[in-house]
Amino acid sequence: MDLMQGVEFSHWLFNNYLENKNILVDATCGNGKDTLFLANKIDSNGKLYAFDIQKEAINNTKKKIEEKELNINIDYINDGHENIDKYVNKKIDGIIYNLGFLPGSKKEVKTEKETTITSLNISLDILAKGGLIVIVIYSEHEGGSEEKAAVLNFARGLNYKKYNVLHYHFINQKKNPPEVIAIKKRNGIK
Ligand SMILES: C[S@@+](CC[C@H](N)C(=O)[O-])C[C@H]1O[C@@H](n2cnc3c(N)ncnc32)[C@H](O)[C@@H]1O
Repeated sequence: MDLMQGVEFSHWLFNNYLENKNILVDATCGNGKDTLFLANKIDSNGKLYAFDIQKEAINNTKKKIEEKELNINIDYINDGHENIDKYVNKKIDGIIYNLGFLPGSKKEVKTEKETTITSLNISLDILAKGGLIVIVIYSEHEGGSEEKAAVLNFARGLNYKKYNVLHYHFINQKKNPPEVIAIKKRNGIK
């Protein structure tokens, strides 16, 4: 078996390291692949929030979920994930970010390092103990390598007593395949 690519690995982390899965967030829902993955994890008592700044992305995601006729509680939020705490007033068990631009759409509309870091800071605050944040980082597009550097810098600076932090990336490729950062809030912290 080949080593997992970034998106597959991000889902593997959720499958293996998510302790509770009542409240989940897709911070960049795009065409809805991650939202659908998360939607299959929660039950009828759970709640899923899907954010995107583009109406097109919200519509694509909504369509993908509605086709499956799942009995779940989901809020579609056409706003930036830097405003996450305006919409989510509960502790989050898991949150996924898939940084970059909407595949098949305008490359200029993309996640930006400032708003991504603002959002990550807020997400850490509202993450439950044992909770998981997974960030898939694409960096080939304009501004992507700066955003990647900012996210890596942010992740490296987290206190090891509070968080387990992992960086997964291939190191011998010509292009820059997506990289993954995982942040697990340790159970023992106050
Ligand atoms: C790489 S795509 C996500 C792909 C998606 N996970 C999927 O499965 O199709 C990144 C998405 O982030 C969105 N985005 C950009 N800035 C954002 C922000 N500040 N808050 C929320 N979404 C944002 C873009 O509109 C784009 O749809």
